Amino acid sequence: SLSFILVVVAAYLLGSLSFAVIVSRLMGMDDPRSYGSGNPGATNVLRSGRKGAALATLLLDAAKGWLPVFLVRRFGAAYGLDENVAALAGLAAFLGHLYPVFFGFQGGKGVATAAGVLLGIDWMLGLATGLTWIIIAFFFRYSSLAALVAAFFAPAYYLLGGGIAWPLHRGVLAAIVVMGLLLVWRHRENIRRLLAGTESRLGSKAKTPS
Ligand code: G3P
Repeated sequence: SLSFILVVVAAYLLGSLSFAVIVSRLMGMDDPRSYGSGNPGATNVLRSGRKGAALATLLLDAAKGWLPVFLVRRFGAAYGLDENVAALAGLAAFLGHLYPVFFGFQGGKGVATAAGVLLGIDWMLGLATGLTWIIIAFFFRYSSLAALVAAFFAPAYYLLGGGIAWPLHRGVLAAIVVMGLLLVWRHRENIRRLLAGTESRLGSKAKTPS
């Protein structure tokens, strides 16, 4: 339907706002694509040493994943849009973050945006997945490893809580699985660095672009 197409396109455009780049520009900082991992994401902005900019990037990139899911769940029923469409809108925002139309399709890895989508689907799902990220990041000090482990657990949490904490929807599960697979694909260089022992730890600052 038209409302479905409008929602997916609007969510994709919202997701295309690369807040690492936007926040950095607004704060008069270097473009995050020019240092560290070169990734336009909160982790790489943190390598600039500016914690506030990194936090703003994290929150805004998460908000753009959360908002479309929340709006469809809250107001979609009147337009025939269900939970599956809400998750699909979240996936569209996630795809916008990875392949942003406003930034030459050179986007980020989707960790914060996926977290926002999961929060929108159910806050407990977002919380469980977020805590997983925090635990791995705390013990191993790798943002990428924490994201990879959390992405693996997210569909498992969704299935475990399904029918108990929230209703299970095939489309929602599919969206979570697709986000996880794309997230792993976008971390392929991080995976290589983790295996080689050359991945940069959280808290270490950027030197040169890679
Ligand atoms: O935010 C994405 C994170 O998992 C990895 O980022 O800059 O270390 O490649 P980065």
